[in-house]
Amino acid sequence: TAEPLVLGIETSCDETGVGIVRGRTLLANVIASSMDEHARYGGVVPEVAARAHLEAIEPTLHAALDEAGVTLDELDAIAVTSGPGLAGALMVGIGAAKGLALATGKPLYGVNHLVGHVGADLLRPPARVEADFGAAVAAPDDRGELELPTIALLVSGGHTSLLLVRDLIDDVELLGETIDDAAGEAFDKVARLLGLPYPGGPQIDRAAASGDPRAIRFPRGLTAPKDRERHRFDFSFSGLKTAVARTVEAARDRGDEVPTADVAASFREAVADVLITKALDACAEHGVPRLLLGGGVVANARIRGLAEERCAAAGVALRIPPLSLCTDNGAMIASVGAQLVAAGRAPSPLDFAADSTLPV
Ligand code: KG4
Ligand code: ZN
Repeated sequence: TAEPLVLGIETSCDETGVGIVRGRTLLANVIASSMDEHARYGGVVPEVAARAHLEAIEPTLHAALDEAGVTLDELDAIAVTSGPGLAGALMVGIGAAKGLALATGKPLYGVNHLVGHVGADLLRPPARVEADFGAAVAAPDDRGELELPTIALLVSGGHTSLLLVRDLIDDVELLGETIDDAAGEAFDKVARLLGLPYPGGPQIDRAAASGDPRAIRFPRGLTAPKDRERHRFDFSFSGLKTAVARTVEAARDRGDEVPTADVAASFREAVADVLITKALDACAEHGVPRLLLGGGVVANARIRGLAEERCAAAGVALRIPPLSLCTDNGAMIASVGAQLVAAGRAPSPLDFAADSTLPV
């Protein structure tokens, strides 16, 4: 049977994403970001994001259909992020998806955003057909199949979660998550403390390159013995942020120049260390020698580097999808939608609501 052609809509944070897949084949992935509009506030402003989604959703949808070269009529289903995320932002995508489903009579599937990040890893670019030989050429970034079970570490500006995925549709378990700021948020806030522009992640990454990661020993949140029971796989970045603030203030009080590169490198090291340590602890505890990374913070050079080093040492197979599929996007939602259709699952009722705290 033909693989399902599915359109996916993602509006849980500041990216308006529309993607189109045929089964596991990625046909289109168009993203409009309202990041620039949030820059002067130093973080995502929910109302600004929701209004930006309203303006971007229709052009993004048309661009995706154009890119994939398909019409709405040809779709087998429509998928949309139902949560977790910003309520007002989610509602824009869900409203658009319901409108499309009603107008076209196509089935509608609500998809969990975090499961979407895992589903991103299934996607492959279409095989190119060599003009001269008429032969299909294997996709250049073929990472082989995603094997399950896997531990998934999802880190972005909106979430920091550790999952145990036994089955993409039926068995995803939340092992832990941040109890305060998301990791990306911590990067953005620390960048601000250092006088670096938003978004802070790439700025800190750049500044850290010339710094000493051992210059300052910043705290690794929730790693004390007392946290081993209840918060074994949870994260906390607020204490780290406060520690950076104190370091910066102390330097200013002394009339010293703030050692930006050393602070950036030491902060980045603390985040990378705690993320990868807990992810590999989860692999060990659950006997799962596989780790999948997702979310925009995966762009971080040290997080990637440390993950590669420690996974190799621990005999854990590491998977990192291409960055365009790690950051929030519609194709990852379409990918899960295609799995639901292929598994013969019933569509969501047309009156389902946005759930900003939707569990996996
Ligand atoms: O997944 P994403 O694009 O979407 C949202 O969560 O909105 O993630 C954006 C977050 C921002 O907080 C940004 O500062 C962070 O990812 N980020 C990084 C890097 N690039 C982006 N954090 C650390 N290092 C980076 N290189
Ligand atoms: Zn995300």
